[in-house]
Amino acid sequence: MTQTVRGVVARGKGAPVEVTDIVVPDPGPGEAVVRVQACGVCHTDLHYREGGINDEFPFLLGHEAAGIVEQVGEGVTDVAPGDFVVLNWRAVCGACRACLKGKPWYCFNTHNAAQPMTLADGTPLSPALGIGAFAEKTLVHAGQCTKVDPQASPAVAGLLGCGVMAGFGAAVNTGNVGRGDSVAVIGCGGVGSAAVAGARTAGATTIIAVDIDPRKLEWARGLGATHTVDASSEDAVARVQELTGGFGADVVIDAVGRPETWKQAFYARDLAGTVVLVGVPTPDMRVDLPLIDFFSRGGALKSSWYGDCLPSRDFPYMIDLYRQGRLDLDAFVTETIALDQVEDAFAKMHHGDVLRSVVVF
Ligand SMILES: NC(=O)c1ccc[n+]([C@@H]2O[C@H](COP(=O)([O-])OP(=O)(O)OC[C@H]3O[C@@H](n4cnc5c(N)ncnc54)[C@H](O)[C@@H]3O)[C@@H](O)[C@H]2O)c1
Ligand SMILES: [Zn+2]
Ligand SMILES: [Zn+2]
Repeated sequence: MTQTVRGVVARGKGAPVEVTDIVVPDPGPGEAVVRVQACGVCHTDLHYREGGINDEFPFLLGHEAAGIVEQVGEGVTDVAPGDFVVLNWRAVCGACRACLKGKPWYCFNTHNAAQPMTLADGTPLSPALGIGAFAEKTLVHAGQCTKVDPQASPAVAGLLGCGVMAGFGAAVNTGNVGRGDSVAVIGCGGVGSAAVAGARTAGATTIIAVDIDPRKLEWARGLGATHTVDASSEDAVARVQELTGGFGADVVIDAVGRPETWKQAFYARDLAGTVVLVGVPTPDMRVDLPLIDFFSRGGALKSSWYGDCLPSRDFPYMIDLYRQGRLDLDAFVTETIALDQVEDAFAKMHHGDVLRSVVVF
């Protein structure tokens, strides 16, 4: 059995996305079909449609979602029809060498659905990050469904499925920000602003938001930035050093993912400080640095996959913070849109008009 629903497909490099019919199979062993209630527009969706991730078109976009489990396949016990879930794109396997070493957030063999969703003519779709949730229903691995408190609205809960978790976790998990730390975040879109919020939650006392768009800096201030730097008119490295006693920040997070921003992060951190790369570079990007600078500055250069999160631990935790008024997830939802407005949302993201546009079904 299959069902046909509407979904947003990117057919070729740079071509505008279109809403079309998607065929969703019944869940097989270990799989689940989820009725999507909300899905945020993340920059990674735009990377996919621009061919910046891989060439496996056509893509079924969307990967920052919450919804209700509708059907489960054989052997699924963790979730059941009717459960309110946030979809995650790193369902840990529990058996790879990372999982066996007790570091499941690095899992090297994460699960996705085994069966493909297709176009009406049978062409298999590549779901963005193994999710594909700009669709009324989507087929995922049951491990990609994380149950959370249904008191949070789908638009808010879905944010945890990607950008907010990635940014928050980049600060809290990967950067290991602690009490009294100084933190700089370069690029304060959905991901970077969440890193600012994460730094505040973790107890950082100097939180410097860096962006080239004054609106983003204003929003970052609302989420906990103590200082802002407009990198379009100021030298970001010099300003971060100035704001941290001349030394640089303990942790600098690059939430843009370009060679120039990563270099700023590298030089804007204190001796023995940490750089966290959470923005996703394209395969052509290169960084050239004197090796002696790496050696003499010490510290750690890390990248953050999905905020090094463990969905089962971090999603319910962040919903609790939200319910207690300690994490303003509502501030990330700039607008709610319909399924046929994803292309417009990409344009708004490109122009910096939004932190998040969220498709609501
Ligand atoms: N590592 C992960 O697990 C993960 C998860 C989600 C998203 N991402 C990546 O994170 C990045 C950010 O995603 P987003 O959804 O927040 O995008 P976004 O477009 O909302 O935000 C990007 C921000 O960077 C700013 N910016 C651009 N160039 C800059 C520069 N030179 N200096 C300072 N600021 C600059 C923009 O003004 C904007 O505010 C993307 O590369 C995305 O693919 C990574
Ligand atoms: Zn994303
Ligand atoms: Zn694993």
